[in-house]
Amino acid sequence: MTDISPLPHVLNIKPYVPGGKLAGARGPVIMLASNENPFGPNPLAIEAMREAAASVHVYPDPAYGALREAIGAAAGITAIDRIAVSSGSDEIIHLLTQCYAGPGDEVLQTEHAFSMYAVSATAHGATPVFVPETDLTAGANAILGGVSARTKILFLANPNNPTGTMMSVDALKELQDALPPHVLFVIDGAYAEYVGPAYEAAIRDMVDRRPNTIMMRTFSKIHGLAAARLGWAYLPRRIADTFQSIRGPFNVNALAAAAGAASISDPAFTTMSREHNTLWRAKMIEALNAMGLPTPESAANFVIPDFGSAERAAAAHAFLKDRDILVRAIGGYKLPTRLRISIGSAKDNEAVLGALKAFSAQR
Ligand SMILES: Cc1ncc(COP(=O)(O)O)c(C=O)c1O
Repeated sequence: MTDISPLPHVLNIKPYVPGGKLAGARGPVIMLASNENPFGPNPLAIEAMREAAASVHVYPDPAYGALREAIGAAAGITAIDRIAVSSGSDEIIHLLTQCYAGPGDEVLQTEHAFSMYAVSATAHGATPVFVPETDLTAGANAILGGVSARTKILFLANPNNPTGTMMSVDALKELQDALPPHVLFVIDGAYAEYVGPAYEAAIRDMVDRRPNTIMMRTFSKIHGLAAARLGWAYLPRRIADTFQSIRGPFNVNALAAAAGAASISDPAFTTMSREHNTLWRAKMIEALNAMGLPTPESAANFVIPDFGSAERAAAAHAFLKDRDILVRAIGGYKLPTRLRISIGSAKDNEAVLGALKAFSAQR
């Protein structure tokens, strides 16, 4: 027994459920549960990590100058001091929440939003507030309807995980213009590269339209560096200064920093990954719909077929698991009748489609 107990709100956290691994698999496992890049990391990033490995006895550059310069050059950002880097973008979610929301405050998100926003809000004693969605999107008006005097942060993933839906840039701007200035607007662009460079530039420019807007990005998805844990953000100057004051001096490890700089400096790899994704996403959506599994359009690197009932979705999940294929159950996101399937290699996509065809034929 011990008298040591966490703060009361920490006990309220509903932990994040990761995509996980497949225990006891017979052969190679097809991993389509965590929206990873099927091509793996950029070979230039692997080389950069190899080189950096020889120097890991020395602390990294606490300013992460080379990485921030590389991000700035790739993203068209000249104010390098307004770029922050982090151990995964999860760390940005946590640090922003820690800085700006606490007991009595509200953190706003959409009904099917990425679950770390709520985990982080709860962990810091704030109340997560969910805006209802229609047809898997909320829209500016519904989001504004959720804003109160206590709202401190609005987290909006665009495209959103796990729905794959997105708001147009015009709708984002409408929302931005109407948001009261006491609300920090965090546009989470974890999947922005799958939309394309024009969209990436548009959300970057939104940061400069208002002093309350942040763009958050990750190296875990299109850059194929999920295990390296690297994220970044472009922030208004005052918020950037606050962020720098709270982050650990060495919050990004040197291997991740080297890999990220190499990867973001090579747009060819990103373009190739996006084109593969666009092609296969369309094929997957068409094939799943043809199987009688209604699958909406997606702007990201995953699709969410509807199995009609939670039981049927669970049966499909288990059926795939038995064939060493791991996809994501999304009941925790209030989408119990659907599964989220990441776009993988051509071979893996064909395997999951083949297995689902066999599953559908079982009825
Ligand atoms: C919308 C969204 N934001 C943020 C993250 C966190 O990514 P990471 O911490 O790996 O950068 C994810 C991961 O799945 C995500 O889907």
